[in-house]
Amino acid sequence: MQLIHRISEMREWIKTERYKGNKIGLVPTMGYLHEGHLSLVEKARKQNQAVVMSIFVNPLQFGPQEDYQSYPRDLQKDCDSAEKAGVDVVFNPSVEEMYLRYPPYTTVCIEEITKYLCGKSRPGHFQGVATVVSKLFNIVQPDRAYFGQKDYQQLIVIKTLVEDLNIPVAIEGVPIKREKDGLAVSSRNVYLSGEEREQAVCLYEALMLCQDLYMRGERGREKLIQAMKERILQESKATIDYVEVCDTRTLVPVSKINTPAVAALAVKIGNTRLIDNVILGGDKNAEEDA
Ligand code: PAJ
Repeated sequence: MQLIHRISEMREWIKTERYKGNKIGLVPTMGYLHEGHLSLVEKARKQNQAVVMSIFVNPLQFGPQEDYQSYPRDLQKDCDSAEKAGVDVVFNPSVEEMYLRYPPYTTVCIEEITKYLCGKSRPGHFQGVATVVSKLFNIVQPDRAYFGQKDYQQLIVIKTLVEDLNIPVAIEGVPIKREKDGLAVSSRNVYLSGEEREQAVCLYEALMLCQDLYMRGERGREKLIQAMKERILQESKATIDYVEVCDTRTLVPVSKINTPAVAALAVKIGNTRLIDNVILGGDKNAEEDA
């Protein structure tokens, strides 16, 4: 496996792969790899002859009070896991290599679907994500790119980005990887103390409660949200950022569910902000088409 830091070198490598007629899969990450990231690689491996993983902690998507400085990093360990998973190239540019000017003069701004959920509580976040992902698409020019459904809104933002700007890349969604107790795997889980880790399962349990109510015929937003909030607030360290039920495509909150919906939440456990979601009705198609 190769480790590449320079954009020019990345482009050279891509040129050779293209010349060989190989399809290229891109897995964008911020590193500190876990099973979730590796499940994206697994799908990319199946669908492409060459797999590039980017590891770049993107300052542009962090707010001033957020954890950019303290975000966990371990490039050596990441390269070992990436190699074992079958990644051909890890692309790991410095901030100076990625951003000629910082902050950049040109950014990508996505309207409407960023008004809700994380877009509402993290202003500028999706602009930072869309900008860096656009840059990665231009540098790597992949045939396919892989994103986890754990960051559901991010997946919708990226799908909208490639549709609106006619970027020739297929966006592939990958289901959420979970720990044994249901907690969604995340790089930020390392921030949790023992007690916080135990309490963190409330996100998943709240979503399961919501899904169960939905399966038993409940379609009202208020009832579903209420049930989720009650479960989360049983935990002493939990503070709710949002708990919402939205249309799977527009992300607009729905009052009565009669189109495919997603229950999504963001909860702080101590100082660690965690997110999770579930597609209601277990509609596999809505999940895969998302
Ligand atoms: P990061 O948080 O490192 O996540 C990289 C990718 O892994 C994302 O597509 C995310 O949805 C996916 N992922 C994370 N946890 C997962 C889990 N438990 N199951 C399945 N997939 C999971 O998301 C980012 O980085 C950045 O915003 C990025 C897209 C790289 C742009 O900077």
